[in-house]
Amino acid sequence: MQLVGNWNYPTSVRFGAGRVAELGAAAKAAAMSRPLLVTDPQLARFAFVQRALMVLQGEGVAAALFCDVKSNPVAANVEAGLKVLREGGHDGVIAVGGGSALDAGKVVAFMAGQTRPLWDFEDVGDWWTRAEPSGILPIVAVPTTAGTGSEVGRAGVITDEGTSTKKVIFHPKMMPTVTICDPELTVAMPPAITAGTGMDALAHCLEAFCGPFYHPLADGIAVEGMRLIKESLVRACKQGRDLEARAHMMSAAAMGATAFQKALGAIHALSHPVGALYDTHHGRTNAVFMPYVLAFNRPAIEDRIARLAAYLGFAPTFDAFLTWVLELRDEIGIPHTLAGLEVDDQQFGRMSRMALKDPTAGGNPVPLDEAACHRLYTNALMGKI
Ligand SMILES: NC(=O)c1ccc[n+]([C@@H]2O[C@H](COP(=O)([O-])OP(=O)(O)OC[C@H]3O[C@@H](n4cnc5c(N)ncnc54)[C@H](O)[C@@H]3O)[C@@H](O)[C@H]2O)c1
Ligand SMILES: [Fe+2]
Repeated sequence: MQLVGNWNYPTSVRFGAGRVAELGAAAKAAAMSRPLLVTDPQLARFAFVQRALMVLQGEGVAAALFCDVKSNPVAANVEAGLKVLREGGHDGVIAVGGGSALDAGKVVAFMAGQTRPLWDFEDVGDWWTRAEPSGILPIVAVPTTAGTGSEVGRAGVITDEGTSTKKVIFHPKMMPTVTICDPELTVAMPPAITAGTGMDALAHCLEAFCGPFYHPLADGIAVEGMRLIKESLVRACKQGRDLEARAHMMSAAAMGATAFQKALGAIHALSHPVGALYDTHHGRTNAVFMPYVLAFNRPAIEDRIARLAAYLGFAPTFDAFLTWVLELRDEIGIPHTLAGLEVDDQQFGRMSRMALKDPTAGGNPVPLDEAACHRLYTNALMGKI
């Protein structure tokens, strides 16, 4: 089967190898003629970013480049991008990269015409209604990792350096108008990033599937996403040029982010403070916590995980699924404990309070409290499942 498609769910997605060549058409479809291309400094040196700029130029779309975006982007990156966007009179953002560049680009487009400060739009209650919708510029997203699914999401994660917290900025209009999913862009991703980002996609599908809310649409997307990951993640890590595996991982990433409109849970709640305080990779950090959180949630999710295990072709038991997660982590080089991320117990008290306040904590199937977060951090350091 040819892994190509034009999808209109959850936004307009042009999926298929080589389709980054359609970037000019995508920019025009999103009504931009002077876009700012936002990426990170490492990717800015990659041939495909240079090619993307040439493709745009060839189509008469005058794009400028902004690449001052760090991994785990901070507010200063958004402010710098905003300055370039406003001074250059740009009329849209083309965000190219992993979750960091996509989120930074999306938030720059969102902030373009706002008068209130960034943190007024944190994803708390209905704060998103504070935004002036006409001040949000259109976005075209081009993912180069297969993990966060930010290319089909309505949020951006930005670190508040003042409080060392990862904050989610949300608005329905932050959904990219057009997304180009070109798996060829991911073939040069190193195995460690492929593994970490792929485990982020798995964490999204898994936490959405386990969330304690009624959302059969999300559940259906999540289980098929996990099947694609089971078939493809090890292959993508070990044979980077396997385009079929790369394509399935790119789909699974988009599916994870589509499904987590339902819920995320303790994996993300515990991971965000680690990312904010230790600047670790988001997906790799999630992957460390996954088995400890699964075991903690077992009383609430045992039946549904058994059903999931059957769908994935394992024995229909919780233990079969947990065993697969442990084997997968091992096979793709994810550390088993927090020590592998160079995280010790020095800040567990602070991290437990931060985890409990994280907006994803409320979606965990077993209610969390500070003591439970502390215990989970300790388990993840001691390797105790
Ligand atoms: N918006 C959302 O819904 C959402 C969901 C999950 C995570 N996030 C956020 O996304 C960020 C993590 O994104 P990520 O995991 O994609 O990593 P990333 O964007 O930080 O990229 C990691 C590294 O991989 C490099 N890279 C990217 N694509 C590459 C390629 N094709 N070839 C070689 N190198 C490549 C980057 O230059 C960078 O050095 C975190 O800030 C996280 O909080 C957002
Ligand atoms: Fe995530």
